[in-house]
Amino acid sequence: MEKIKLFDPVVTRREEFVIKQVLKSRFWAYGGGAGKVLEFERKFNDYTGSKECVAVNNGTSALHLALSLFDIKDKEVILPSLSFVSTANAVIYNGGKPVFVDVDPTTMCIDETHIEESITSKTKVVLPVHFGGFPCNLTQIKKLCKQNKIKLVEDAAHAAGASYNNTPIGSHGNAVCFSFHPVKNLAMPTGGAITLNDENSKNLAKNLKIRCIKNAIQSGMFLSSILDSSKKSQFVHEENARKKCRNWNSLLSNT
Ligand SMILES: Cc1ncc(COP(=O)(O)O)c(C=O)c1O
Repeated sequence: MEKIKLFDPVVTRREEFVIKQVLKSRFWAYGGGAGKVLEFERKFNDYTGSKECVAVNNGTSALHLALSLFDIKDKEVILPSLSFVSTANAVIYNGGKPVFVDVDPTTMCIDETHIEESITSKTKVVLPVHFGGFPCNLTQIKKLCKQNKIKLVEDAAHAAGASYNNTPIGSHGNAVCFSFHPVKNLAMPTGGAITLNDENSKNLAKNLKIRCIKNAIQSGMFLSSILDSSKKSQFVHEENARKKCRNWNSLLSNT
């Protein structure tokens, strides 16, 4: 019987060459002199049409950090009953309460017709998941968020490269969280990103970038247990992704 691989990343001599360059540069930290992570953030930001982009070490961290921007402690977050465990865990990590809404069996995405009945005075965020890269009904969800003054944080772990109404996923919600895990459609050894579209996205991005260090200083130790500095994207992985992103763009434009 022929086995079908769950994932099969493409590694050409180009990736090997660039990774070696990064290793030899000895600038492996985010703030290092070669600035490759920054370059990736800019390119991904342009690609999705978002206002800001912050690269992180995986999709779970993206969700954790994005939700930490909206003060959900003791508040409710509405999310679909079908997702990877990180989606609900990120709510709990931030002291919030996950409120599950059934998915539409035809799309596997949150059934937007049942969101309104779950909204209470404690609802702070709606967190839809674009399951399998299939975009949720963002028109209806955005309308509900606006009417109820609720933030929209999207779990786009499966949806890099997807679009809704001809507008890329990444440019809709207040914060949009991506995973670049090897089984995802933009694969790398590990990685993630948050794109931001809030009015004060610039400040939020700055806040995210210094948050790890601030937390560490406040807690009196360099690595705080949850929001630790390892959440910031690692240079080598991002460089790999940057190259993949280019290959991937040419792949998409050739199809
Ligand atoms: C829907 C969803 N959200 C979040 C994540 C977490 O991403 P990561 O594995 O990069 O932490 C995953 C990963 O499988 C996922 O499927």
